Amino acid sequence: MLAGRRIILGITGGVAAFKSAYLARRFVEAGALVRTIMTRSATEFLGPQTLAAITGTPPAFEYFGEDEVSPHTEMAAWADAIVIAPATAATLSRLAAGASDDLLVGTVLAFSGPVLVAPAMHTAMWEHPAPRRNVAALESDGVHIVGPATGALAGGDEGPGRMAEPEEIMAALGLVLGAGTMAGWRVLVTAGGTREPIDPVRYVGNRSSGKMGNAIAVEAADRGADVVLVTTMAAPSHSRIRAIGVETADEMAAAVWEEAAKADVAVLAAAVADFRPAHPRESKVRRADGIPDLELTNTPDILAGVAALQPRPFLVGFAAETGAATGAAAKAIAKDVDLLVANDVTAAGSGFGTETNAVAVFGRDGAFEEWPTMSKAAVAARLWDRIVALRSP
Ligand code: PMT
Repeated sequence: MLAGRRIILGITGGVAAFKSAYLARRFVEAGALVRTIMTRSATEFLGPQTLAAITGTPPAFEYFGEDEVSPHTEMAAWADAIVIAPATAATLSRLAAGASDDLLVGTVLAFSGPVLVAPAMHTAMWEHPAPRRNVAALESDGVHIVGPATGALAGGDEGPGRMAEPEEIMAALGLVLGAGTMAGWRVLVTAGGTREPIDPVRYVGNRSSGKMGNAIAVEAADRGADVVLVTTMAAPSHSRIRAIGVETADEMAAAVWEEAAKADVAVLAAAVADFRPAHPRESKVRRADGIPDLELTNTPDILAGVAALQPRPFLVGFAAETGAATGAAAKAIAKDVDLLVANDVTAAGSGFGTETNAVAVFGRDGAFEEWPTMSKAAVAARLWDRIVALRSP
């Protein structure tokens, strides 16, 4: 859910700032791009160098003295979400009042996307009406509040006021960024490469690992869709993914054509053999028998079968290119898909077996967008953003 998302983590001056380092790390592990803003008092509780090492970028502190002329508007334009954790009583007050005399509040004011705030303070302060009033004002401005939790506090006291745990903040951010937006959608995904038997031992196959299709399935399931994953590889375990294991193009075709009729969206990311041995042997071909003639025959065109369904699901095809992905325009039109995702399987960091992919995404008219190299999870997130936007009225 967070892969490829640009998150600004604001850290203010409370003891709970020690947990912000872990939160930043969890964001990075989830594939997010993270920049941090620290208030000066936050640096009393957490070393800036720690955040720089975790996120790869030094924290920002001030409007002035940085290279950027207008750091608050630059950061606001960059971000998909702002998370402030911990948010002290003073920061809640300045946020509620719009007091933009520090970089963090200024950035929030310049930002039009989702803001998530995790208050943290001593129970006695939390129970004062002022922070409650400020939280209510922020909520009515559309700010999302997570926590505070009840538990042990610094100084040995116990009670409400403890910052929500990083995992809870991650989950809340996932919800804010769109988990559940695909609830009720029925999604079909294919993954992996088909294996076409020559004999019981050998097959004609390809290098697909299933990573791209799996990422697409997981992202849809995380957003609340019910996903059927037809795959030749191990399927990810997820409560909303039902996996159907297949091996050959014929088996994949049978499963896909049955499931596609019930799907709202079908994303065919599998690498399907176009040809298979026409007469697979029933027993092992032996060297002593000489070099066998391998007569090949066509496999079914699974994608064409889905495109011909009436009514048909929103259809996304993939194209494995050996050369610039941008050269797939003709394929996008010929295949009659709603979107075509082309990748150059010979480029470094793209295509088969890699953790990342560099794709060009074509519309029905052949017009395309080139996306930079990013993790397959991030490609999946951006692809679903696009599909959701195209399918929404
Ligand atoms: O699995 P990974 O290691 O992560 O690698 C990802 C990937 C490179 C396999 C993936 O990103 C990808 O490009 N998948 C499509 C590979 C492919 O078969 O491309 P194609 O250009 O040959 O086929 C075009 C489309 O037709 C694809 O959607 C394919 O699923 C479909 N097809 C192809 C042949 C066939 N007989 N039936 C089909 O439906």
